[in-house]
Amino acid sequence: MIPMAIPNLTGNEKKYLDKCIETTFVSSVGEYVNCFEEMVAEATGSNEAVATSCGTTGIHAALTAIGVKYNELVIIPSFTFIATANAIHQCGAEPWLMEVSENDWCLDPNLVKSELETNCIKSGDGSVIHKPSGKRVAAIMPVYTLGNIPDMVAFREIAKTYGLPLVVDAACAIGAEYMGEPFGRLADLSILSFNGNKTITCGGGGAVVGNNDEMVKHVRHLTTTARVWPDYDFDEAGFNYRMTNIQAGVGVAQMERLSEFVSTKRRVRDYYNNVFSDLAAKGIGVFPTTAGSSCWFSGIVLSEGSVLEDSKKVCVELKESGIEARPFWKPIHLQKPYKNCPKTDTSYTESLWQRIITLPCSTNITDEDLNQVKDAVRNIFL
Ligand SMILES: Cc1ncc(COP(=O)(O)O)c(C=O)c1O
Repeated sequence: MIPMAIPNLTGNEKKYLDKCIETTFVSSVGEYVNCFEEMVAEATGSNEAVATSCGTTGIHAALTAIGVKYNELVIIPSFTFIATANAIHQCGAEPWLMEVSENDWCLDPNLVKSELETNCIKSGDGSVIHKPSGKRVAAIMPVYTLGNIPDMVAFREIAKTYGLPLVVDAACAIGAEYMGEPFGRLADLSILSFNGNKTITCGGGGAVVGNNDEMVKHVRHLTTTARVWPDYDFDEAGFNYRMTNIQAGVGVAQMERLSEFVSTKRRVRDYYNNVFSDLAAKGIGVFPTTAGSSCWFSGIVLSEGSVLEDSKKVCVELKESGIEARPFWKPIHLQKPYKNCPKTDTSYTESLWQRIITLPCSTNITDEDLNQVKDAVRNIFL
């Protein structure tokens, strides 16, 4: 079976793991944690990176650091992985769910602007209040879906106008660029994931970077139980969210191959875009790609009007040809814990998610594998 997206662990991962055991540095202090943070900071163009136990804990710590509290709202796209919403929920807040743009499957800055204009007022202390719920809007959090970066100039402008922190769920975006630059300084804070299905994995893991050095430092403090060294003093209710040296050992070995892995991801995207281009005549599309996208996942999109059952049927047919393929994120507003959250019209998201089929795109995929995927997909539709 050609897998959808599996880790590629053929570099120095084992060597560095052995070193963790030999040196007994297996916990959250160790040379690999420091080294991994430096590598992530450099790759994202940030002054500093804070390595975390996973992406979700990174988002929770980031939202806490910027002051997201009970009964507040954070603007996110409904089309995202549930962890984006869960981290907001963990702050006692609620997502304000919005539609995504067809161009990049990311939050649409024009929509965010018009929602803030029409549905919010500024209170005496400058807070932005969502009129229908009376709740304070605490932050805007776009998601770099598939490693696509939306119009961040527009988002920065909106955040500035409304005095709102800009945090990005960049879980899938390691290696992505915006206007030729890495993304680490585009927002106050951006959070990456190094889960097993990501371009770079630590087994599990995350990192927080940003252009607001004070906030990044606050995240570091919060993720380290807010401990005031050297004694058992703590000045905030913090979290034990630090990455371990074992995770970081794997991460360092992975980061050594970042450019190779991202090139492969982009090559796979180009390949599918090319070999499936004539399926457009049958209404079959491919994934949107922004300039500098890290192309985390690739695949096809069934014609408008298709439903989840159609996508699942294609996945079953591909499985019979030895190819693993899967549907993608089910929108947040359709998930039980979030179905009553405030939201905009989400008709595009509702149609889109049912039509997406993610195809094999591991960083060790071979030309032979790609050829097999091409033939199997084309056989289904032609
Ligand atoms: C968009 C998005 N946000 C958040 C996460 C959560 O990251 P983690 O699994 O590392 O907690 C993921 C991936 O798993 C993701 O794809």
